Amino acid sequence: MSRILRPVSGNGGGGAARRPAKNEMGVRSHRKFRSPSWKMGGVICVVRDITARKEVEEEIRKLNEDLERHALELSVANKELEAFSYSVSHDLRTPLTRIYSAGQALQEEYAACLDETGRFFVRTICEASEHMEELIDALMVLSRVTSKEMRDEEVDLSGLAREIAAELQLTQTDRQVEFVLNPGIKANGDEQLLRVALENLLENAWKYTRQVPIARIEFGVIEHHGRKVYFVRDNGAGFDMRDADKLFIPFQRLHHSKDFPGTGVGLATVQRIIYRHCGRVWGEGEVCKGATFYFTLK
Ligand SMILES: Nc1ncnc2c1ncn2[C@@H]1O[C@H](COP(=O)(O)OP(=O)(O)OP(=O)(O)O)[C@@H](O)[C@H]1O
Ligand SMILES: [Mg+2]
Repeated sequence: MSRILRPVSGNGGGGAARRPAKNEMGVRSHRKFRSPSWKMGGVICVVRDITARKEVEEEIRKLNEDLERHALELSVANKELEAFSYSVSHDLRTPLTRIYSAGQALQEEYAACLDETGRFFVRTICEASEHMEELIDALMVLSRVTSKEMRDEEVDLSGLAREIAAELQLTQTDRQVEFVLNPGIKANGDEQLLRVALENLLENAWKYTRQVPIARIEFGVIEHHGRKVYFVRDNGAGFDMRDADKLFIPFQRLHHSKDFPGTGVGLATVQRIIYRHCGRVWGEGEVCKGATFYFTLK
């Protein structure tokens, strides 16, 4: 057939596919032909139903639109939340300073006029204001970490860990802590943010090993499924893995303030930083045996 039938150029011929209307069966190709004797002729049409493909394309377009809208809504909500927490933190500071100053004045200048119960109440006011100031500071760090413009640079994580460890040792020179900081660990990311993340993880390791006679704190990296996983490990108080889902929730604490003071915002800050680097962070622990916090970066 192909030998005796020749395609004819001209109107509608030449094999060009007509663009089908929406939901119409697509005419993939059609050709006019004649026999060499010019007696026989006709048109061959190859028709393919592309309704399903069109429907899928439409579905994908709608999903993309939805995704774009959600991303926009999320970014607007995020900005509002940042502005809100920043202004709350700022505006809370002024009345708090006044409460604290009044409490201090009472403690210093009027202590003699108060009985033991009165002095206890004043002490409580001062301690609570101090704690609230710490909470506000922590919230400010959290909101700054979210809004800070990201830089992409090579960061010497081992160097940062060394600096932080030296600073921690200066805060309590009487403690015996063995730091095992693996050298040469580098990553790409925002140095300021990664410093804050490492500070929080190493400060935690330092804090939660304070009841251990010889504390050991390690910073290192392992390879898992071709991906670098950084970790900070300690042999301190540890925690119950059943509570692991609470670790990164702001203000959630697994230990009592009497044993280990804190605001409960440190790990939430770490999580935000790691998320901003498109990574993951998680913790593993065992009561009285220590904890390890792992994180990845993009
Ligand atoms: N290395 C660790 N060992 C044992 N428990 C830990 C460790 N790191 C964190 N945790 C637990 O997770 C909780 C949340 O940690 P996070 O750093 O957010 O708060 P924090 O240390 O209590 O206070 P801060 O905001 O001052 O850091 C802690 O209260 C503690 O119970
Ligand atoms: Mg902490």
